[in-house]
Amino acid sequence: MAIKAGQALLESSEFGYFDIWKTAIEERTGVQITADREHALGLLLNRRMRELNLLDVDEYLTQALDVTRGAEEWSGLVDRLLVKETSFFRHGPSFDYVAQWVKETITNPDFVGPLWVWSLGCSTGEEAYSLAITVDRAMRQVGSVKGFGIIGTDISNEAIFQARRGIYRGAKMNAVDESTRADYFDQVGAQLWRVKADLRRRVCFLTSNILADKSPLIGRKIHLIYCQNMLIYFRRWKRRELVNQLTDHLDNRGCLMLGLGELANWMPEGFARVAPRVVQAYTKVKTVEQGEAL
Ligand SMILES: C[S@@+](CC[C@H](N)C(=O)[O-])C[C@H]1O[C@@H](n2cnc3c(N)ncnc32)[C@H](O)[C@@H]1O
Repeated sequence: MAIKAGQALLESSEFGYFDIWKTAIEERTGVQITADREHALGLLLNRRMRELNLLDVDEYLTQALDVTRGAEEWSGLVDRLLVKETSFFRHGPSFDYVAQWVKETITNPDFVGPLWVWSLGCSTGEEAYSLAITVDRAMRQVGSVKGFGIIGTDISNEAIFQARRGIYRGAKMNAVDESTRADYFDQVGAQLWRVKADLRRRVCFLTSNILADKSPLIGRKIHLIYCQNMLIYFRRWKRRELVNQLTDHLDNRGCLMLGLGELANWMPEGFARVAPRVVQAYTKVKTVEQGEAL
């Protein structure tokens, strides 16, 4: 169907095109386009059609949704559409809990390092680096030499590109106190800081769609999965399905941390919520056979 350049794609929704886009986005990313996001999607699609000099909605739809030929266009759309808002140490109580949990875990005589942490939906890297700083500090405080690695994954190529560079501007650094800046960042310009190389080496970033890709973890069991502010864009049944899958990646003593309220009143099977209540964290319930060996 040909539309005039600039005509809102939303107007063509009577033909079902807009619904096809919404369904494709949700099926491929998990992200639900709610009523308040429809306008942004319509604007984005119109802008892309103008940039590509396309007048035919049908042609653009066919091109962009083609799994092979449309891969680049699709990935660009996802980059521009998804909410990637993030910050360092975004939810303070969760990071306090991570520090406490790391100390308890690594001082358990049965624990064999290194400690592996997965930041899922890590956006531009602030969350993964905050985890790295928290783990490093906790390990130093208990004098541990067990080592650790952080894996950060996100569906957005652009976000992962920025995460790997590890360079952040002034406003982003407001959440990082002076002593943390001094310990873990180098100032590389006016109002520009870069995560120190030693810490960057601990963090590996990968583009990965949690719905479509094979696990980026190559069979490795993870001790802590940290997944905040991503599932809120998914339908509730999808969140549960994903969380159940995520628990398969956890080590027996592993911990799964979500954003507060992201899965209220529900728990993955075989898991229990751990205190404090101001964070949403789960660990495996110990069976009689596993007992204290966990
Ligand atoms: C709002 S950000 C949250 C960033 C960080 N976790 C935080 O709490 O500050 C949500 C992130 O989830 C990512 N995301 C959305 N769907 C995804 C999927 N299917 N697989 C992997 N990442 C996804 C987005 O690209 C975005 O960077």
